[in-house]
Formats: sequence, structure tokens, C-alpha cells
Amino acid sequence: MHIPNLDKAKIRSKQEVLTKTYENIKESNLEKIGLNKKYYIKTYGCQMNEHDSENIKAILEEMSFSEVDNMEMADLIILNTCAIRENAHNKVFGMLGRIKHLKEEKPNILVAFCGCMAQEEDVVNELMQKYKWVDMIFGTHNLHEIPIILSHALKSNKQEVEVYSIEGDIVENIPAKRDSKYKAWVNIMYGCDKFCTYCIVPYTRGKQRSRKKEYIIDEVKTLKKQGYLEVTLLGQNVNAYGKDLDTDYKMENLLEDVAKTGIERIRFVTSHPWDFTDNMIDTIKKYPNIMPYIHLPLQSGSNRILKLMGRRYTKESYLNLYNKLRKALPYSSITTDIIVGFPGETDDDFKETLDVVNKCKFDSAFTFIFSPRKGTPASKMVDNISLDEKNKRLQTLNKLVNKYAKERNDVYLNKTVPVLIEGYSDKDKSKLMGYTDTMKLVNVSGDSKYIGSIVSVLITDVKTWSMDGVIK
Ligand code: SAH
Ligand code: SF4
Ligand code: F3S
Repeated sequence: MHIPNLDKAKIRSKQEVLTKTYENIKESNLEKIGLNKKYYIKTYGCQMNEHDSENIKAILEEMSFSEVDNMEMADLIILNTCAIRENAHNKVFGMLGRIKHLKEEKPNILVAFCGCMAQEEDVVNELMQKYKWVDMIFGTHNLHEIPIILSHALKSNKQEVEVYSIEGDIVENIPAKRDSKYKAWVNIMYGCDKFCTYCIVPYTRGKQRSRKKEYIIDEVKTLKKQGYLEVTLLGQNVNAYGKDLDTDYKMENLLEDVAKTGIERIRFVTSHPWDFTDNMIDTIKKYPNIMPYIHLPLQSGSNRILKLMGRRYTKESYLNLYNKLRKALPYSSITTDIIVGFPGETDDDFKETLDVVNKCKFDSAFTFIFSPRKGTPASKMVDNISLDEKNKRLQTLNKLVNKYAKERNDVYLNKTVPVLIEGYSDKDKSKLMGYTDTMKLVNVSGDSKYIGSIVSVLITDVKTWSMDGVIK
């Protein structure tokens, strides 16, 4: 049994990170334990978690489990959880309530709890005390150990808790059952060392560990051969790629090498403004298969709050970088993340945020009310803003964000843009859907034979969050 520990999760050891391969460490006699059994997986959180779930699915299918999308039919239920804000946390506990009823009717169901919440000491303690019927708890550092954890859980009646607070080695070649046949997530690094004062991720994902470039480029080449058109390079802070490795090879070099594989579309998330170099901008400009789309989280426009957040840039340096990007890449879209109601945020601080939004006119923004996460420095700061005030600020901000999102989209009207057609639209099954190079969602009228290809689409109508178009 291994239980997470917050103090240990904070440690950034100098210990070298080794690379292992899944083939070499996997248990070889468990291929049949899922025969005739079905699993259901529910994923919360970011792209990183989405991709972890793709790994979990493939590992389970190697053990002969098959996937169902109806929880009631499953023999194994997995919750891959997110700890970023209180509402993500609450959703998961709500779901546990539903699963408890199911387990009362069918006691043989196995329940697994994993992901970022499983890395939280308090959550695991609660699961051990009040949710003893949860059969398995494992964390973000050892999802490759599912086969062995599962085989123990099948044999015993005890709750299996295997969560490591210290990250350990990088495991390469974990199989993935990808959700899309055209777009793929590719991790380029794990963890985060930025320790923004509000954020739980450095504790749940461990220290920054970059994958070796050979593995990343091989993965992209393989995906290309398999027919994938788009890769998204994933990391909490991709611009810092390579800084933990003993080489001069940095994000700009990786971007260039990935571009040279010739894969049609390359995206990358998330960029921290602090590590964005001029060389990176040049590389993005040079290669047409690096998409003109940048997610550049602002968090706040107030220098005082940015300092309290530990973001290490100022309003002025953010604007400077932003303007440089817009100038270098005039045909691009730039989106952001903003937090309102950080402890001590005054009306004036909030106005500074609005000022940056007015100056940048972002293509879109994810906006959040600050949520205290236990163990982070910001959770100990005095939070004297009423919820009512926070909600008001969020509404004011969203109104402004929406106004500019629509304005940025308006420019697309009557223009022809490249769209990767992914499938049928969720809302209207008679339509197709896809994303432009600049990451705008388009609902498209056209023949289904175009699914899985990049086509020219004439934009015929523009809304705040999406556009309509026809294949030309
Ligand atoms: N690594 C990324 C962010 C990952 S979390 C980056 O640095 O940009 C995604 C977003 O969630 C953050 O950008 C932030 O806006 C928001 N977020 C993180 N912790 C939060 C908290 N405690 N309360 C509210 N929003 C939070
Ligand atoms: Fe969290 Fe900051 Fe790291 Fe992003 S860079 S994951 S916000 S600590
Ligand atoms: Fe959530 Fe963990 Fe991602 S906390 S946002 S799933 S890294």
C-alpha cells in the first residue's frame, strides 16, 4: 500500500529521470483476466487526463476487457479524476454516490479511482475511511501498473491503494486506444515546476520531466503512417520543454523536428508566457504545418495579483509578448485563461484584467472563479471577496470576452478556410464538424466522404463560439 503525501509531492529532487519501456516492465501473464468483462471509464479534467484514459483503455484491452459506454453494463468502472477546482472535485464525489447504488445492486463490480484527485492526501484518506467499497486507487505516476493492481483487486477484498507522491521514471511505449482517427495527443513532458500559488498540478503531476526527443518524433512519425493528420503536443508548460534535460535541445528545436516529419497539423498546449522565446515564434512562422493558434494563459492583468500568483511576468511583458505574436503571425488566433476573485483582488485589480482583455481582444478565453486547493500557498491567503462579488466579476469578464470572440470570428465571414472534418456535429447530425487551422469550430454542410480530410470551407455564418460553412 502506498498513500500520497503532500509534503513529499512538493519535493523537487535532482535525481535523474530514467526512461523505461512498457514492454520491459509489463506483467506478461495477465492477458486473459478481462475475458468477457466490460469496462466503463469516465474522464474529468484536461487533455493530459484524456490521453491518460486512452492509455488506460489500451492497457485494459490488452487484458481482454472490452469498452462499454453505459456504466450500468460494466464489470469495471474507472473514474479518471481532476483536482484543479472544487467543482471538478464535487462532480467526482457526486458520481461516487451513483456508483455506490450500483455496487449495492451488483456487488461484484470493481471500482477504480485514479487521476489527479487520487494524488491528494485528503481525498485518499476520505476514500479509505468512508468509501471502503472503492476497490482500487492509483495515481498519475503509475497507470502502467494497472494490470498488477487489478489482478490483486480481483483476488482480494481489501482496498488496493497504490499512489506514489514521487514521480519516478518515464515509461515509454504505453499503448493507447485513441479517441480520434485523425487527431492525436502526444505528451512531450510530464509534471510542472512552476508552482503558481493557486495551482495543484505541481503536486498531482510531479516534477517536470521531458520525454526524449527520439521517442516523441518516432511517435509522430508512426501516427502519420497510421493516417493521423493532426498532433497536439501536450505539457503543462510546453515552452519549458527540455530545460530539465542535459542538452541544448529546446522547444523550438522540437517544434522544428516535429514539423519536418511532414504531419499535416501540429498544435501545442499550454504555453506559459514566461518561457515563450523569439526563436519559437520564428519556428512557428517558418513551418506552415505548425498551426497559427496559441493558448497563452494570462490569469490576471494586475501586476500585484500576478506577483501573488507567482506567475513571474507583468501585465506589460504579457502585452509585449502578445503584440509580438500578433505582429509575427497576423493570421493566428490567441486564446487565454483568466482567474477572477484571487485572494485580495480589488476592484482596481479586476479593472486591470479587463484592460488587458480590451487591449488583446482574445479569440476566446476560459474564465474561472478562484478555487482554493488544499496545500497550495494561495489557499492560505485571506480571501475576503464575497461569492456574489466574484460571480459579478465573472459575468462582467465573460461579457467582454464574448464580445471580442464574436468580433474575431466576424472576420471569417465569406472567407474560405481549411477545416479538418472530424465527423458529424453533436447538435445537428445532418451536419459535419471540424476545426480550422486557427482552432475555430465550424459546423459544415457537405458530403460525409470528407470525414477525415482537410477541406476548404466557405464560412457562411458566424457566432460567438462557432461558425457555419459549406465545403467548396
Ligand atoms: N499549465 C497551464 C494551466 C493548467 S490548469 C498554464 O499554466 O497555463 C488550467 C487553468 O485552470 C489555468 O490556466 C487556470 O486559469 C485555471 N486554474 C488552475 N488552478 C485554479 C484554481 N485553483 N482556481 C481557479 N482556476 C484555476
Ligand atoms: Fe499550474 Fe502554473 Fe504549472 Fe500551469 S504553470 S500547471 S498554472 S503551476
Ligand atoms: Fe485536472 Fe490534473 Fe489536468 S488537476 S486539469 S486533470 S493535470
